Amino acid sequence: MAVKIGRNDPCWCGSGKKYKKCHEAFDDKIAYYRGQGHIVPDRSLIKTPAQIEKIKQSCAVNIAVLDAVAAQIHAGMTTQEIDDIVAAKTAEMGAIPAPLHYEGYPKSVCTSINEVVCHGIPSDKVVLKDGDIINVDVSTILDSYFSDSSRMFCIGEVSPEKKKLVDVVKECVYLGLEQVKPWGFLGDMGQAINDHATANGYEVVREIGGHGVGLAFHEDPWVSYVSKAGEEMLLVPGMIFTIEPMINMGSHKVTVDKEDNWTVTTVDKKPSAQWEIMVLVTETGHEVLCY
Ligand code: MF3
Ligand code: CO
Repeated sequence: MAVKIGRNDPCWCGSGKKYKKCHEAFDDKIAYYRGQGHIVPDRSLIKTPAQIEKIKQSCAVNIAVLDAVAAQIHAGMTTQEIDDIVAAKTAEMGAIPAPLHYEGYPKSVCTSINEVVCHGIPSDKVVLKDGDIINVDVSTILDSYFSDSSRMFCIGEVSPEKKKLVDVVKECVYLGLEQVKPWGFLGDMGQAINDHATANGYEVVREIGGHGVGLAFHEDPWVSYVSKAGEEMLLVPGMIFTIEPMINMGSHKVTVDKEDNWTVTTVDKKPSAQWEIMVLVTETGHEVLCY
């Protein structure tokens, strides 16, 4: 049973202000959208300023770890060496790699090369070679706050087709980002991404999406990048989620490796690319927290 908050009671957000002077109008607005049949965020998805500060500190580590990878990645190294860089840099900054032991995942980072869509497992048997494209997906826990972002790297001389895929996927992420604003919808972002991907002849992966993040690794909402404008969850200030479309040069169809149960590859073995950022919905628009 929930007790209705009095208008003169302290606001649920912890600001110390009276509810009527703080989040009452906000709650009324959400209730209006719910009444119109929209999916609306639960209060637990709305971060307080204090939580946002802590999440930003986690993001600073995540960004530094990816910067360390960027400075050292090269043809001839193994993906295990990338894992070693991530583990060492994360520990040096007093944090924990979120993937390690997450649902049994065995390493500190995901390294997904060419036709690997996501969740590639670092290995001392996998050597980066000239012409590869690789996604390095880093996630960090600092003081119990979570961050998550990934970048693509082109190793040596990459074919123009692969280079274009990598560039267009980044464009998709930032076109999607432009759509993120309070009282808009997650689908506004999803449609912008799907439109730009398909205009370039690519297909967006359907089964694997983004997620809310911050107090846990994967929070609601689940985020689709094949959604429609005006649909999916209402966006309100204080929500944090990832924009991380996986986009395939060929068919959107993907399959999970039967042996390791993690590695996702394209069915047609054509390349796939992904960039991931973490975005905060603000009063006036959005703020990128992690990239
Ligand atoms: N970092 C991935 C994401 O963006 C999740 C990887 S789960 C792992 O959501 F266990 F494979 F690391
Ligand atoms: Co993610």
